[in-house]
Amino acid sequence: MHIDLGIVQLRKPEPSDADALFAQKNDPDVAGQLGGFTKGYSRAEIARWIETHSAAKDEALYAIIDQQGRCLGHVGLYNIDHRVRTAEFAIMIGDKSAWGKGIGRRCTKWALEFGFQELALRRIYLNVLESNVRARKLYDSLGFTQEGCLRQAQWKSGRWVNVIVMGILAETETAHETTLTQPADEREKFWHEWFQKHTATADGRTATWLDYSMDETRGRALQAQTLGLVMEACGSVANLRCLDAGCGWGQLARCLEVQDGRATALDFVEEMVEAGRRRSPSIEWVLGSFLDATLMERVGLFDRVFAVEALQCVGPVRGLRALWERVAPGGRLIAILPNSENPLSKTVAATMPGRYEGLSPQDLTSALTALPDVEFASIRGLVFAEDQKVAPYTATPWTSQPNWSFSPNRLLFVAGRK
Ligand SMILES: CC(C)(COP(=O)(O)OP(=O)(O)OC[C@H]1O[C@@H](n2cnc3c(N)ncnc32)[C@H](O)[C@@H]1OP(=O)(O)O)[C@@H](O)C(=O)NCCC(=O)NCCS
Repeated sequence: MHIDLGIVQLRKPEPSDADALFAQKNDPDVAGQLGGFTKGYSRAEIARWIETHSAAKDEALYAIIDQQGRCLGHVGLYNIDHRVRTAEFAIMIGDKSAWGKGIGRRCTKWALEFGFQELALRRIYLNVLESNVRARKLYDSLGFTQEGCLRQAQWKSGRWVNVIVMGILAETETAHETTLTQPADEREKFWHEWFQKHTATADGRTATWLDYSMDETRGRALQAQTLGLVMEACGSVANLRCLDAGCGWGQLARCLEVQDGRATALDFVEEMVEAGRRRSPSIEWVLGSFLDATLMERVGLFDRVFAVEALQCVGPVRGLRALWERVAPGGRLIAILPNSENPLSKTVAATMPGRYEGLSPQDLTSALTALPDVEFASIRGLVFAEDQKVAPYTATPWTSQPNWSFSPNRLLFVAGRK
């Protein structure tokens, strides 16, 4: 059986793959990233490996084949247990020239889809060396959650290494489905240029947000109401540590400061962070992406975390999960994002394929339900009012189970952590 993933094909391993796999599995740069303890493989061992794994009943293991027919490595699910509906995921792209081209992401996504949809699994787990940053970033971004750390469980290159156990559950996977296929750095470049073009003044005085109208008065009215709605959802912020994630020009961070919050503002557009730093030095400004787990660990935990019109640039569910990890016990996550079911949001998304993604109320509810330690979660729909003399949006009441007969333009939610 051949599975066409576009960028590569998958097929069962064959004896003719032995040469490539022999070279790859004995390459120290590759072996150094893999979990098992090995002193290297002989050709006979590789041949046995192919034979055993291509015949194993509780595995779905495939060789990864490029356009020229070369074997680049393998990917698959092991230890498939239909009684508890779990399986272990593993991947090796052993040909180093194929790294960083999106092949790992494509193959891992395929394995998740195959496991959850075809095999009806509930949980897929994996082991990864703590030192394997590339693989951990990939798994993080696809919705795997760290479940544990096996301390010093491997011996690699002359030292003990921790092994991280990660897992992903079926419902998370469904909610996670994302159209954001662009590699993160390309996407960031796109948004960087977009913001430079559309929010031209470095002092942020005429700044508008995202797809908001280029009509300045309307744009400002939307911003004002958005800030008001968010401030309402967060309660008192006095002396609380607050993160404005995807801060843009930092309007929200400044509002929080006025309310005596201790504000940190983070964005990946350098000009905005620089301008913010000059204009409001008392705010802590951080340059980077909130999907960068290392950076986010460094900035620490917050009592209030905000993502106002930011989640659509990074993939809402993955952004939401990353930010939830930054919410301190007793804290709140508050966000506004486009409703993917709204016709206007759909039109905007169509103009930015792969770079802009809203969420439906149902997917938002399941994503919130899947978060750990949620004490409460509530959603409001923001609908463009017919008569906008007072304010652009009409907001629905808060609800934990949105079941509207209409499609609000925006979704506002707040989730509280136990
Ligand atoms: C880990 C591995 C599967 C990743 O596959 P890949 O094809 O190289 O990676 P992709 O091009 O699909 O990139 C996927 C993600 O990995 C991360 N990544 C890729 N290159 C990276 C680098 N140089 N540094 C840090 N992260 C990197 C990024 O998060 C990237 O997503 P993004 O482009 O949206 O930011 C592959 O490199 C591999 O098999 N390596 C050797 C064996 C191994 O480590 N197996 C996993 C054991 S658990």
